[in-house]
Amino acid sequence: MDERIYVDNSATTAVSERALQAMLPYFRENFGNPSAIYSYGQEAKKALEDSRRIVSKAIGALNNEIYFTSGGTESDNWAIHSVCKLKGEAGKHIISTEIEHSAVLRTLEKMRGEGYEISLLRPDKNGQISAAQLENAIRKDTVLISIMMANNVVGTVLPIKELCETAHKHHIIFHTDAVQAAAHIPINVRSLGVDLLSMSAHKFHGPKGVGALFVRVAVKPAAYISGGGQEKGYRSGTENVPGIAGMAAAIEEGAENLQNNARHLTALRDKLIEHTLKIPGIYLTGDPANRLPGHASFVFEGGKEGARLINMLNDEGICASSGSACSASSIEAPHVLTAMGYDKEIAQSALRISLSRYNTEKEIDTINRRLPLLVDELRRRKEKTIL
Ligand SMILES: Cc1ncc(COP(=O)(O)O)c(C=O)c1O
Repeated sequence: MDERIYVDNSATTAVSERALQAMLPYFRENFGNPSAIYSYGQEAKKALEDSRRIVSKAIGALNNEIYFTSGGTESDNWAIHSVCKLKGEAGKHIISTEIEHSAVLRTLEKMRGEGYEISLLRPDKNGQISAAQLENAIRKDTVLISIMMANNVVGTVLPIKELCETAHKHHIIFHTDAVQAAAHIPINVRSLGVDLLSMSAHKFHGPKGVGALFVRVAVKPAAYISGGGQEKGYRSGTENVPGIAGMAAAIEEGAENLQNNARHLTALRDKLIEHTLKIPGIYLTGDPANRLPGHASFVFEGGKEGARLINMLNDEGICASSGSACSASSIEAPHVLTAMGYDKEIAQSALRISLSRYNTEKEIDTINRRLPLLVDELRRRKEKTIL
């Protein structure tokens, strides 16, 4: 039996049994191409459209507002590209935040190269962005506002409904990257009011390489990948039917158990946070109140190279991360923490422990027992190298 403790669920999650079972038939028995007219094809097509219905229902959308993609990165890229295309010469100003995932930040950089001006809002010390702050940044030529629903590094949940209302007061299209939020906190696109929303299956116990973009009917996506005309001609390429079926099963399962999972995760998270904060010189990052149920993130004094602690935890069979999946293998300070006002050195001590419903209290107890000893050892090793 695998005795390792996996607590890097913001990076990716294990595929659930229900998602796996939903996928299996589409690899071998019903392997048809959904565009084919014979029975194999039609069975695959039915799976595709059933999945679209399930995914749309989970977030309160209409069936024809869901487009399947290869994951969160593609959804973010496509969302930004779509709005810029749609708006054409109407305006060349985009507002986003300094704490977005690189899927958004790099795409915005690309748009800057195409003549757009980009304003990135700076978060407060909890990683929050306020409606007043957004209001101040809005200009006559603002065509898009893209603000994430929950941050991957510090777990802060942002006030998307209010931010979206501010955008709409000025008739500006609002996109949210909900990759960390979907199937973890309640999402209803109608009550939130968002125009576009990105999701990724592997963050909620679905498979990797599959995601979705919600686009409100009135907005319409721009054609993104040309070819055989799949996804209503907007995103060509034979659909990843097993992946899509897995994504639908995973989001449905997540939505059905949202409250129970959140209760379980919050209890484990709070136990972990309470215990960890007893270690001298260690601080919680992100919003203490409005944060993802399973997300705990810290920085600590004297731990400049957080990656060392991650390696020490790994030696003990505990898989955690230093901030975000993209920066896990580097000691570059997470841009999110420096944007929140942490200096570069302390930002490099980031430790992220992100839980899933499969984590147990026993595992948290093990982390709580080992972490203070490892932090202590790391500090002692550092002192030795200084001497
Ligand atoms: C907030 C956020 N957006 C986008 C992505 C990219 O998603 P994917 O891995 O599906 O491309 C991630 C993944 O870490 C994320 O955390």
